[in-house]
Amino acid sequence: MNLSNRFSPRLSRIEVSKIRRFDQQISSIPNIIKLTLGEPDFQTPAPVKEAGIEAIKADYSHYTGMRGLEQLREAACLYQKKRYGLIYDPETEVLTTVGATEAIAASLMAILEEGDKVLIPAPAYSGYQSLIELAGAELIFLDTSETDFLCQPEQFEKAFEQYGSKIKAVILNYPNNPTGTALSREQLKKIADVLKKQPVFVLSDEVYAELSYTFIHASIASYLPEQTIVVSGLSKSHAMTGWRIGFIFAQKQLIDEIVKVHQYLVTAATTISQKAAIEALSNMEDSEKMKEHYRQRRDYLTARLRALGFAVSQPDGAFYLFCKIPDKLQNDSWQFCLDLAEKAKVACIPGIAFGQEGEGYIRVSYASSMEQLQEACSRIEGFLMK
Ligand SMILES: Cc1ncc(COP(=O)(O)O)c(C=O)c1O
Repeated sequence: MNLSNRFSPRLSRIEVSKIRRFDQQISSIPNIIKLTLGEPDFQTPAPVKEAGIEAIKADYSHYTGMRGLEQLREAACLYQKKRYGLIYDPETEVLTTVGATEAIAASLMAILEEGDKVLIPAPAYSGYQSLIELAGAELIFLDTSETDFLCQPEQFEKAFEQYGSKIKAVILNYPNNPTGTALSREQLKKIADVLKKQPVFVLSDEVYAELSYTFIHASIASYLPEQTIVVSGLSKSHAMTGWRIGFIFAQKQLIDEIVKVHQYLVTAATTISQKAAIEALSNMEDSEKMKEHYRQRRDYLTARLRALGFAVSQPDGAFYLFCKIPDKLQNDSWQFCLDLAEKAKVACIPGIAFGQEGEGYIRVSYASSMEQLQEACSRIEGFLMK
């Protein structure tokens, strides 16, 4: 029996991620250095692993409540308060999710319907697009390539003039993947002033909040508490991608709705991971050490790549540099990255993987050891000299 035409028609709009496609294409090249990854090269801190092991031994093998363990919700809210001055009630205003990915999926499923429009500054992380399309909604990209990859209040104003109440949500992601840029408190306030006049949700993906190098991370939630759904998690800050712990922070009336989707998607996050997460949130020392390493690598890589002729966008956060391919070289980012992979044996992600607005750029991840970065720079230098 052929069931191939029995799938949801919405799936036909979903394509395999360009990042994955590119990665597959270059992975068989021997001795290649991959600066493609969006995940820490560090291991999960030892005390966090211990907490996970203890949880297994103590038989934490049952479901938790769907919002997550009380102790974890308390630790998460305390963390948001201490680090970013955001006040949430652990009982009603936080949800523990299966990574930031499920936080994004559950939030979008809760708010979007057919025909809605969602504004996204672009280039953008590719994880949002398919979820929005699966919900039958449409993306409107706001091109940030002319404004140092920082979205501007006027762009939102224009979009609201054009599309009005069809716009259901805005997604912000600062510090940003793929550009590494971040918005300051003042810039956020100006955007918030526009958004607060509109009946829209603001999904603020803050998974890289801890990796802010230039200024203390600020959240738009401090200006728009009633509209903002803050997404965060431990994958990046604590090198815990595989533990799959994320959070949603929002006011009670929003969480009460999103939790309905969350419970049917996953019931609850993994109990053992939740126990480990309590330890992670109570001990920032290891996370601070990793951040210091990222900062050193960022400084090194930025200086080297700029000296080699790449214009690098202001790297205020996350662990990516977004680099303009020098004018004298070819501008097709896919082909440039393929050449670089084949001839220099260094893999970076073509900017086009993050939307048309990223064409002409490459994303370089510095979630790799300093030795690897040094070797990669020497290889790129050799490639450019030929
Ligand atoms: C901007 C952004 N949001 C969300 C995620 C997903 O995070 P998690 O591993 O917690 O699901 C990533 C992962 O790369 C990301 O870059």
